Amino acid sequence: MIPFLDLQAQYNSVGHEIESAVLAVLRSGEYVLGRDVREFEEEFARFCGAREAVALNTGTSALHLALLAAGIGPGDEVITVPMTFVATVAAILYVGAKPVFVDIDPVNWTLDPGHLEKAITARTKAIMPVHLHGRLAAMPAILEVAERHGLFVIEDAAQAHGAEAHGQRAGTFGAIGCFSFYPGKNLGACGEGGAITTNRPDLADAIRSLRDWGQAGKYNHVRQGFNFRLDTVQAAALRVKLRHLEAWTRARRDLAGDYDRRLAEHGIAHPAPGGRDHVYHVYAVRVRERDQVRGRLSELGVATGIHYPRPVHLQPAYAGLGYRSGDFAVSEKFAAETLSLPLFPEMTGQQVAQVVEALAHAGAAPAASAA
Ligand SMILES: Cc1ncc(COP(=O)(O)O)c(C=O)c1O
Repeated sequence: MIPFLDLQAQYNSVGHEIESAVLAVLRSGEYVLGRDVREFEEEFARFCGAREAVALNTGTSALHLALLAAGIGPGDEVITVPMTFVATVAAILYVGAKPVFVDIDPVNWTLDPGHLEKAITARTKAIMPVHLHGRLAAMPAILEVAERHGLFVIEDAAQAHGAEAHGQRAGTFGAIGCFSFYPGKNLGACGEGGAITTNRPDLADAIRSLRDWGQAGKYNHVRQGFNFRLDTVQAAALRVKLRHLEAWTRARRDLAGDYDRRLAEHGIAHPAPGGRDHVYHVYAVRVRERDQVRGRLSELGVATGIHYPRPVHLQPAYAGLGYRSGDFAVSEKFAAETLSLPLFPEMTGQQVAQVVEALAHAGAAPAASAA
């Protein structure tokens, strides 16, 4: 079986380094917000090219605290996309604001800036683009609209560690960038983890305080906060993995290039090729009769994923937002057709060839253009 993702292969390559780093934390007794957390924050900020990073317990907390630090709350509206993981939308609701959706663009699968103007109202406070699958959203166009309307930009960079355009990396385009270190992410902890990045020390300070019970000094609670701190053990593991991330991203890009070429040879549509703006957290194709193709691939020994089978506006939990089927044609069509192929840094070119052969065997027919 070719797995969709192989965390054991990653552990086999760097496990010895992680074990000694984690053992040092266990022996230190410094289990919460220890030295490794501070060092990881500095190293991750440097990796992103941001002035500051604040480490948190999850990516969801990063989105939640970013919105709070930006002063967003009840009565405010935040524009985002329905083609994302539910956490993007849940975080907006956690602060009491209203998520307002705009559709994705059919080439990059990220927020279509052409839809922004008509979604902006007097209540709009922020735009939250999602760098879906690891590809940067159209940041220059989004930032231009945000600046014209005086809106905050909070990037959901949970899938896009290191994606860059003109030397600038994900998490540094907007006021705040939000990252997840869920184990399967390009940079994944040995458990849960997250972080924000920002160039604004005032926002970093607010988020540092919010993650630790709103304290400004011990038992001086100046705001209502949370327990959203990162464990030192996770920071130690993340510091080890961060040293390998550039090499892992190069491997992901090489494998994606193999997919592009081999899929084209078989006449199967491939996603728009990425450059440095794409870190290939996910490599997704669009095929007709996706669920049948997926079943046949499984019989042929290829595991796949779906990111995501139903856009958030059609999830039962978010029916209260009042959207209906047909509201976001591109997201809905892509949700029905998207199929994520195996991709992880330790995968071989030969395995890519096997996946593409299996896809051809499974009768994968390209989906019709969405435009
Ligand atoms: C786009 C997106 N946003 C937010 C999250 C939430 O991150 P976490 O699972 O670390 O809370 C994830 C990942 O799970 C994600 O993929």
